[in-house]
Amino acid sequence: MEIKITKTTTPKEKPQGPLGFGKYFTDHMFVMDYTPEKGWHDARIVPFADLVLHPASTVFHYGAEIFEGLKAYRTANGDIQMFRPIENMNRMNQSAERLCLPQIDAEFGVEALKTFVELEKDWVPTEEGTSLYLRPFLFGADPFLGVHAVEKAQFLIIASPVGAYYATGLAPVKIMIESEDVRAVRGGTGYAKCGGNYAASNRAGAKAEAKGFSQVLWLDGVERKYVEEVGAMNVMFLIDDEIVTPALTGSILPGITRKSIIEILKDKGYKVSERLLSVDEIKDALATGRMKEAWGCGTAAVVSPIGQLTYEDNDYIINNGEIGALTQELYDTLTGIQWGKVEDKYGWICPVA
Ligand code: PLP
Ligand code: COI
Repeated sequence: MEIKITKTTTPKEKPQGPLGFGKYFTDHMFVMDYTPEKGWHDARIVPFADLVLHPASTVFHYGAEIFEGLKAYRTANGDIQMFRPIENMNRMNQSAERLCLPQIDAEFGVEALKTFVELEKDWVPTEEGTSLYLRPFLFGADPFLGVHAVEKAQFLIIASPVGAYYATGLAPVKIMIESEDVRAVRGGTGYAKCGGNYAASNRAGAKAEAKGFSQVLWLDGVERKYVEEVGAMNVMFLIDDEIVTPALTGSILPGITRKSIIEILKDKGYKVSERLLSVDEIKDALATGRMKEAWGCGTAAVVSPIGQLTYEDNDYIINNGEIGALTQELYDTLTGIQWGKVEDKYGWICPVA
């Protein structure tokens, strides 16, 4: 499908100073429409602007919305590259299938990302640790209040130059294990990247933030016994010499960073287990000094050391609240590949411009 480009006549000033996360937006956006009759059509890049939607649109009433998150990185010689964009497009289709939203040809999705990033290339920041965060999203736009699978939909990509997700950067974060609210259950939408999962997690997140924590670590929704993931990242623990990460049981987002780190770790010869991990096992490993390191991983959060876990008002400090050697090594390897400082022997890099 051809992508029609209409360039802005009023380009914005680029932000000065710290970027933070998701506060600034580039000059354009990618848009495409879906109807059952025409399929996906009118692929276009247009000046960034507000959307006009019918107030009955499905997205506003029944939460028919899915999204993705990936980044474009600028290398030392000025080239721009994305990290595993096909994985995001494939995951978006899995989310679409779960929410009865129309799927997109994944290869075309990557083409759209490339065309869009190339147009916005001056927005890919140059400072150490920064990137252009890309947010593809897709929602139901039927002007009709009946509860039903979506017919009319829109797909957009917007972009935001970003720095670190957490204001503290690579300093270890404090995480609270949530014992009341749950994020997802098997058979529900936990494995899909849909807006509703995040809306439902806000109450626990706000409570944790008010107590000085960065995010919550969710327990499984049935037994409230097994750890699952953190608000915006998957989680991994180094217990003795085993790296343990919760298995993908259906209620956890299958993170692309998680998958990449598992591959890097196995390649480096580490023992990695994807399995059920109970909060009791974590408590025991913390109490006996066998919990050596813990970290979260995700596109926005990259690799984030966890310096403290709190469960039922008991604080457990990990690695003296400092970043561990393995966490640092993983951060360096992963970001090294993403920023083109370390050879990409896996074929994960997708050059843009
Ligand atoms: N888990 C949740 C709930 C997330 O929001 C994210 C972020 O996308 C992740 C895990 C990590 O996924 P990925 O590595 O694909 O960004
Ligand atoms: C990402 O890492 O891309 C995410 O989607 C996390 C986000 C909810 C900020």
